[in-house]
Amino acid sequence: MTLPTLDSQAAEQLIAAGTAHARTLGVQVRITVVGSDGSLLATNHPQGNAPETFELSWFKAYAAAMPTGAPELLSTWQKREPGLFAEISRYSMDPLLGGDGRAEIRRGGVLRGGIGASGAPSEVDQLICEYALELLGYDPPVSGGPGLSGNPHQGVHLADAVPWHLLNDGQKVPAIGLGTAPMGHEQTETAVARALRLGYRLFDTGSAYGNESAVGQAIAAGSVPREEIRVLTKLRGRAHGYEQTIAAFEESRRKLGLRYVDLFLIHWPLPALDKYVESWRAMIKLRDDGVVRSIGVSNFTAEHLARLVKETGVTPTVNQVEMHPGFPQPRLRAVHEDLGVRTMSYSPLGRGTDLLGAPEVASVARAHGVTPAQAVLRWHVQLGAIPLPRSGDPRRQRENLDVLGFELAPDELDRISLMAGSRIGFDPETHAEY
Ligand SMILES: NC(=O)c1ccc[n+]([C@@H]2O[C@H](COP(=O)([O-])OP(=O)(O)OC[C@H]3O[C@@H](n4cnc5c(N)ncnc54)[C@H](OP(=O)(O)O)[C@@H]3O)[C@@H](O)[C@H]2O)c1
Repeated sequence: MTLPTLDSQAAEQLIAAGTAHARTLGVQVRITVVGSDGSLLATNHPQGNAPETFELSWFKAYAAAMPTGAPELLSTWQKREPGLFAEISRYSMDPLLGGDGRAEIRRGGVLRGGIGASGAPSEVDQLICEYALELLGYDPPVSGGPGLSGNPHQGVHLADAVPWHLLNDGQKVPAIGLGTAPMGHEQTETAVARALRLGYRLFDTGSAYGNESAVGQAIAAGSVPREEIRVLTKLRGRAHGYEQTIAAFEESRRKLGLRYVDLFLIHWPLPALDKYVESWRAMIKLRDDGVVRSIGVSNFTAEHLARLVKETGVTPTVNQVEMHPGFPQPRLRAVHEDLGVRTMSYSPLGRGTDLLGAPEVASVARAHGVTPAQAVLRWHVQLGAIPLPRSGDPRRQRENLDVLGFELAPDELDRISLMAGSRIGFDPETHAEY
């Protein structure tokens, strides 16, 4: 399995997440994150200022493999900072307590002599490592760990668990991606950086979102090889037309800081403007020039798709459209199937509507011991659509990618598909986006 590198930015995020997690459990924690070489990556209290007995807990996290890495790391630290582990307020975070997968932290006595002194990982090492690994996109090796539900990919990084689809041009894309709109620069950069570590490999942005540079910066700063990542951006309305499309693409590519873009899509058809075929010809040229790997469209109806194919002979690889249980797009999906176009679902979770609270979703989710969002995302995946859920929250980002460990039965898929609902976004026939 591929282990992500834990850099200081990741360590800061781990500390923020760990502190927040502890707060939900009613405790405060002092956290130090140690790199796999034993170096201090980040701490939420001054280095060396270890009180004799910590008032609360000493929380360590490792990106190194469990369990072999833990004792070595700890002994490195003990040698370097002998006082650090002299007395540690011990707590036990036992995810199996109560058997409902919820963690509980108990204050306990004092553990003398330092964690790891015996050479074997202590209970604390083990649980903290598991928590750290979970935050970094791994399923903890202990079944029923916090927030997880029987995933058969235990011990496998989520990046390795997500299948990839073959597009009609021979390129491949992951079965789930991360949405980034509407997110500002900083939020996008943080979300993409974290998502990369969690295992997301497909990122959706657009010129109109104003966050392409943030996506590019997060990718450049991360440690995942470029060829394992798929970046999707979109042409905005004001750039429709042949020359304008070429120029707008160059602008997007510059902002992303990429040599090539994986997927370039026409964001909206804008039928009243009637220039999408011209833009499509420019996109074919960009693809033929090798600066774009795959070209596609977004918000195109069956008629728009048919016209592109008829007038240019080139079928889009994907059509990114609004799709969720309240708007399951059966007719358009059938058209996609006939043409060999892959459906990508935007607003896959219903964008903050009460979709996730619907009884149909709740009952399916309960039956599989997963969250409503996971049930809905699994529905997308099983229908062959690529959902692009957006979340700025580490737990939810992880949850949204962790949907490969269970399978919905045909009647469960139908129950979700037949829910009442309607479109929540704009109508492509009339929407004017410039
Ligand atoms: N092509 C287009 O025209 C078009 C149009 C719209 C959207 N999009 C793309 O599609 C992406 C996703 O669509 P969207 O943002 O409209 O809607 P969405 O992904 O369905 O919903 C996002 C909302 O759901 C919440 N959420 C995420 N995961 C959750 C979970 N596990 N449990 C509970 N709530 C959860 C998020 O809150 P937290 O952040 O607090 O988790 C956020 O408020 C966009 O970001 C964008 O990239 C494309």
